[in-house]
Amino acid sequence: MKIQIINGPNLNLLGKREPSVYGNTSFTDYFLVLKQRFPQIEFSYFQSNKEGELIDKIQEVGFDFDGIILNAGAYTHTSIAIADAIAAVKTPVVEVHISNVHKRESFRHHSFLSTNCKGVILGFGLDSYRLAVESFLS
Ligand code: DQA
Repeated sequence: MKIQIINGPNLNLLGKREPSVYGNTSFTDYFLVLKQRFPQIEFSYFQSNKEGELIDKIQEVGFDFDGIILNAGAYTHTSIAIADAIAAVKTPVVEVHISNVHKRESFRHHSFLSTNCKGVILGFGLDSYRLAVESFLS
């Protein structure tokens, strides 16, 4: 099984960025844990701060991989273009957020992506990514 994880803007700063909201662990460290936990899965990881690069990656893997786990960061709340890319591909996409966006500012309550996703997992810290992986196994 091939799963692509895609992280959007500012998620390259995990571990340093607002640790009270996003924790102290870098995604590089967490990715090692995830790969050890699911040795049977072939993971790929991509992060970009640029909307178009996120769309390019969704298009690139979206007819080949078994699943995409997408944390589009703030683009979640703004990007019709990423929503269209999710709708355009065959690979199911699970939307993930580290924080519980519904407990935060109201502008984070709406996602343009959710209606085109298989499901949404949010609010469990980095463990949200593990839960998203589990969703592809069941
Ligand atoms: C986030 C929530 C978004 O609102 C925010 O812009 C992020 C991270 C999360 O993982 O909790 O960058 O997607």
